[in-house]
Amino acid sequence: MSLPPGFLDELRDRLTLSAVVGRKVVWDRRKTNAAKGDFWAPCPFHHEKTPSFHVDDRKGFYYCFGCHAKGDAITFVKDTENVPFIEAVEMLAREAGMAMPEQRHDPAAAERQDRLARLADVMEEAVQLFGLGFRSAAGQPARDYAAGRGMTAETLKRFEIGYAPDSRSHLTGAFRQKGMLDEAVDAGLLIRPEDGGAPYDRFRGRLMFPIRDARGRCVAFGGRALAPNAQAKYLNSPETALFHKGRILYNIGPAREAAGRGAALVVAEGYMDVIALAAAGFEAAVAPLGTAITEEQLQLLWKLAAEPVIALDGDQAGIRAAERLIDLALPQVAPGRSLRFCVLPEGRDPDELIRAEGPSAMRRAIEASRPLVDMLWQREASAGPLDTPEHWAGLDQRLKAALARIGDVSVRNHYDAALRARRNELLRARGPAGAFSRGPERDRFAVKGGRGRIKPARPMAATKQSDLARTGVRGAVAEARIREAGILLIACHNLGALGPVEHALEEMTVRTAEFVPLREAVLAAMAGDTDLAAAARSRGAADPFDLLTRVPQARAHPLARPGQPASRVAEVLAEAIALHQAALAHEVEITEARRDLDAAEGEDWTWRVRQAGHQLQEAARLATAAAPSEQEETVSEIQRMLDNPAYKAKKR
Ligand code: UTP
Ligand code: MN
Repeated sequence: MSLPPGFLDELRDRLTLSAVVGRKVVWDRRKTNAAKGDFWAPCPFHHEKTPSFHVDDRKGFYYCFGCHAKGDAITFVKDTENVPFIEAVEMLAREAGMAMPEQRHDPAAAERQDRLARLADVMEEAVQLFGLGFRSAAGQPARDYAAGRGMTAETLKRFEIGYAPDSRSHLTGAFRQKGMLDEAVDAGLLIRPEDGGAPYDRFRGRLMFPIRDARGRCVAFGGRALAPNAQAKYLNSPETALFHKGRILYNIGPAREAAGRGAALVVAEGYMDVIALAAAGFEAAVAPLGTAITEEQLQLLWKLAAEPVIALDGDQAGIRAAERLIDLALPQVAPGRSLRFCVLPEGRDPDELIRAEGPSAMRRAIEASRPLVDMLWQREASAGPLDTPEHWAGLDQRLKAALARIGDVSVRNHYDAALRARRNELLRARGPAGAFSRGPERDRFAVKGGRGRIKPARPMAATKQSDLARTGVRGAVAEARIREAGILLIACHNLGALGPVEHALEEMTVRTAEFVPLREAVLAAMAGDTDLAAAARSRGAADPFDLLTRVPQARAHPLARPGQPASRVAEVLAEAIALHQAALAHEVEITEARRDLDAAEGEDWTWRVRQAGHQLQEAARLATAAAPSEQEETVSEIQRMLDNPAYKAKKR
């Protein structure tokens, strides 16, 4: 069978080699860098234990440094499935959603190929004609419009901006002369009336954006009305033999190149956004064509970058689009492969943001973009109220359903741990489901209002013994206790300085049971309702200073004495509480990883054991690295102090 020119290229373009190969091998997690499209595994073509088989997703090639096997997706299937070349092509084409060309010497197939080629010619011709329209006398309104939107000569050239004059015959006349009317109709450039009348131009009085595919062929146009209140702001080419709008992204070719050079891949909503982004230096910018992002477009994005940044308009529609995208992405996320989201401020789109606040505002928005797991959590946690056990159960069910949609086992495990940690934090912070007649807001009011109401001790503190036992992190309990004692002791000595951290103190998880009433006493005493000792007594706690000084590491802290500078106290406490919460969150992850490990040991499935082991190590590493490095001065002050033997030795 002879394949039409470009067929194999398109097939390779559409496939992701690591996805094809990944069905036959287990990636080495240490060596693999999925974000870079670099995958390593033990070679499927020769027997080995070490991973010397390399897949380069960007190039679409594999190479084994041991046995020198090499090739692309097609040879891989041919050699591992042991099928003839053409069958491998068939299998992969099915997978990629490409129809196989008809049998050899099929005159209809040959004719179709010819037609496609002619359509492509017509489209190129149209790019030229719209370009002429833009530069002609009739193009004045378009030139004014483009200038008004800040498009420079360079931008106009780079994006081949054209103009369809307000005429029914600009293209029609030209194509009639060339005898290409039929093709121009098929290419969606002209409209032939139902009643068989003469064809006329589809695009009239519009600024024209040529849309090129990854190989550089012009396959469609977008046309923007110049009038601000035109009834159809944008008019796009209809679907044609060349153009399937769900499969293409505006500016895909240049964006692919820029992403290859390391530029962040930004996905915007509109043509003008892409153009503004590129002009502002964000060259790897693409947009779908007026529809929600499709699964095929998502695959395309992931071939360009491991974590495309979705920059959606900061309006309701943009946020809804982001939420839809979450569901589309979950089945497809993989180690190192995900999405980030930046929701732009004040309902703006990237074009507006850049014009109003400059490229640096866009850069900041991209840098502040949030991972998929955040968006998912936020969506589920804010889907409804969480003030009854039933509502919490509803949240659990939604989280479970979302998890079930994640295809990759290892990613799913990490999502499980991350979501569980957030859920538990929220549950602890809000109190037990059902005890909601006293929500955190009312508690705070009760303290501030100073009516002497006693705050209910929050059960968030009492983490179950079994949970702790399962963490498997030696010393975690002792460490949490030291951190809590340090924080509370500083607080007890400096009640007047706690204003800025009141909320953090309220929300903080207190693991150590005997410190729970103490935190409540501190909160009551800082409001001036009562003095600390009395507040502690009335909550059944021992003398706070007695209790806390049983943890000698805590009392050695330089701020753990009266009369310290208030701003310093607040700063150190805020950071220490953040560190404490981060460390606890990571413990949950470790627990999860350990449980996976336990579950896997029962089965004779060694790679799973290994994976869970890696996860455990990773979680442990994160737990120790929980402190953000630039803030070391304050963040880890307590921690460092605790580690210092000189402090430990000091007596009060
Ligand atoms: P927007 O309405 O966000 O427009 O549509 P925009 O890109 O910000 O355009 P300007 O700045 O007002 O010129 C986003 C995308 O949705 C498609 C287009 O692809 C557009 O770029 N769209 C929009 C349509 O296809 N038809 C329309 O009528 C409107
Ligand atoms: Mn816009």
